[in-house]
Amino acid sequence: MRKIAIITSKGGTGKTTTAINLGHGLALCGKRVLIIDCDAQRNIGIAFDVKAEKTLCDLLQYGDVDVVEVRKNLYMIDSGGRDLAELEMILAGQSKRERRLERALENLSGCDVVLCDCSPTINLININAITYAEEVIIPISMDYLAQAGARQTIQIIDEVNSYTNSGTQVMGILGTFYDGRTRLSKEVLETLRKHFPDTLLDTVIRINTSLREAPSFNRTIFEHSPMSRGAFDYYQLTEEFLRRG
Ligand SMILES: Nc1ncnc2c1ncn2[C@@H]1O[C@H](COP(=O)(O)OP(=O)(O)OP(=O)(O)O)[C@@H](O)[C@H]1O
Ligand SMILES: [Mg+2]
Repeated sequence: MRKIAIITSKGGTGKTTTAINLGHGLALCGKRVLIIDCDAQRNIGIAFDVKAEKTLCDLLQYGDVDVVEVRKNLYMIDSGGRDLAELEMILAGQSKRERRLERALENLSGCDVVLCDCSPTINLININAITYAEEVIIPISMDYLAQAGARQTIQIIDEVNSYTNSGTQVMGILGTFYDGRTRLSKEVLETLRKHFPDTLLDTVIRINTSLREAPSFNRTIFEHSPMSRGAFDYYQLTEEFLRRG
């Protein structure tokens, strides 16, 4: 079983879009995939039009949760919304607080890939996700702060690793919101390639309107617009993910 946290210190870089569409891409390839929404924004639940009774909050507190089947081979755990933010404060005073997710899921079986969709903050829930995960994907959008964003995120992972004594690896930096018509996108991608030659993924996710529209129809890109550039790019990412596994 591969356990992945999708995380960046910066907001709006395509984390949730990647969790949904990589998740569905893998499910369509026959993998059994669980997406855990680790963000109080509940964007995964909203995108799949699911509101679960027992959420990540119940899992972290009582070890009990609703795993909702959203597509064939694709399952999700709802974040619990604002309750998740409150739970953080309760957990903050408890021992082994950074290992709650790892402990809650230690008997999880029958699943090939777990994807944790993280929020763009450094909080206890994300520290739990990094500690639980064995690999991280860092989506970085093509703007001039990209390199700094990637470095900051890698530094956070290193710090969590040394604090919790875990060995979470960077599976890859994923370039997102790439616009081939602009010089900025080309330059930013070049800079990332130069500074992170081994970790930058070959797949680049281009700006694509269908990707933006799909969640408002409660569809993944493969359902909403299977011939779009967005579907092509997320299929490429699915293939690269399987190749690097
Ligand atoms: N390649 C793309 N082309 C166009 N729009 C995109 C693309 N990827 C994501 N979007 C849109 O950009 C917005 C932000 O994307 P997303 O929610 O995936 O980012 P995020 O990193 O999860 O944000 P947050 O940090 O708030 O959780 C969403 O409206 C999404 O539909
Ligand atoms: Mg998100």
